[in-house]
Amino acid sequence: MSALFSPLRLADLELANRIVVSPMSQYSAEDGAANDWHLVHYGALANSGAGLMMVEATHVDPESRGTPACLGLYTDAQEQALARVVATCRSVGQSALGLQLNHSGRKASGNVPWAATRGPLTPEQGGWETVAASAIPFGEGFPTPRAATPEDLERIKTAFCDAARRALRIGFDVLEIHGAHGYFLHSFLSPLSNHRTDAYGGSFDNRVRYLIEIVQAVRDVWPAGKPLGMKVSSTDWDDAGWTIDDAVELVRRLKAAGCDYVCMSSGATTATTKVRIGPDYQTRFAQTVKQEVDICTWAVGLIHDPEHAERLIADNWADAVTLARAFLDDPRWAVHAANRLGVEVKRPRTYGRAAPGAWPGAAKPDLAPAGKG
Ligand SMILES: Cc1cc2nc3c(=O)[nH]c(=O)nc-3n(C[C@H](O)[C@H](O)[C@H](O)COP(=O)(O)O)c2cc1C
Repeated sequence: MSALFSPLRLADLELANRIVVSPMSQYSAEDGAANDWHLVHYGALANSGAGLMMVEATHVDPESRGTPACLGLYTDAQEQALARVVATCRSVGQSALGLQLNHSGRKASGNVPWAATRGPLTPEQGGWETVAASAIPFGEGFPTPRAATPEDLERIKTAFCDAARRALRIGFDVLEIHGAHGYFLHSFLSPLSNHRTDAYGGSFDNRVRYLIEIVQAVRDVWPAGKPLGMKVSSTDWDDAGWTIDDAVELVRRLKAAGCDYVCMSSGATTATTKVRIGPDYQTRFAQTVKQEVDICTWAVGLIHDPEHAERLIADNWADAVTLARAFLDDPRWAVHAANRLGVEVKRPRTYGRAAPGAWPGAAKPDLAPAGKG
């Protein structure tokens, strides 16, 4: 019996196993719309063996895009293009499908990661004004964002709800709000990026207020039977910043506001904060949250080994494991993990002849010297 490959119930949805393809921006959209790249990329990942495949950070209005090539969900054309991807994944794939909604805040208006000049776009390159909790740049060389006005806060909340309506029409099973990685929502949580003096700044209660309002507003749009979650920052890795104790209390309130799960990430609050990466550097935050709060908790970060993933679930560190780079490297990671753990997993019938037992190549190689004849 594998804990990793046991089913997971989330609201009215049952996932076949506890493996989640993490949202991963592809920086390949045109005017925020998905295209053939997304069709092929997500079509393959829908057959990865994972119980759930999350679609990358998808932005709620034009200025919220991290780069001009990020996905958006604020026009009919974008909705149609993403609906085509989802229809394809449903017809060829096995995984449940989720979407992550994001506003990039002061990290918006950037170059794609492989651009010769990384970092923020200049006005000549088409850069636009960014908006964040306070008028504090992400780092040196980044533009100073506009501090969100009360009108901005209402408009952005409405944009999250409108995008959630579109995600519902498209037929996604799961919706996730991005509350980490230094983006708009995280910029409210962290004292490093939030110097507001109104009801959204200062005390812990004030700094978490906007996120809770967003969850409550989106929950009104997103049906109770469908899972709603948040990618949460566990820590800023900075003594003057957001801490795991803050995160635990936020998760309690997210649960009360209607979140069905949290995915515990960390870092990227400012350009200079350094994540102390190492084995279980981040999964241990999931363990803390799981011990403290009765909510479905996902671990993410440096999970690539099937036995490690199995242990995280079996030892109760997390309810699900979320993998990003492992799936880029091996788009059938979960099928291969099942082979390794000796578990049967649903695979496309056309791939049946590659299953262990059906294909001699899947057996352990015979290392005895080859004889003649
Ligand atoms: C190419 C790439 C794109 C990413 N885009 C997103 C994203 O859209 N949303 C998000 O929450 N995290 C994003 N991430 C972070 C991953 O989801 C994940 O949290 C992080 O890579 C750690 O997991 P890993 O060690 O399994 O890669 C991205 C990571 C990569 C490698």
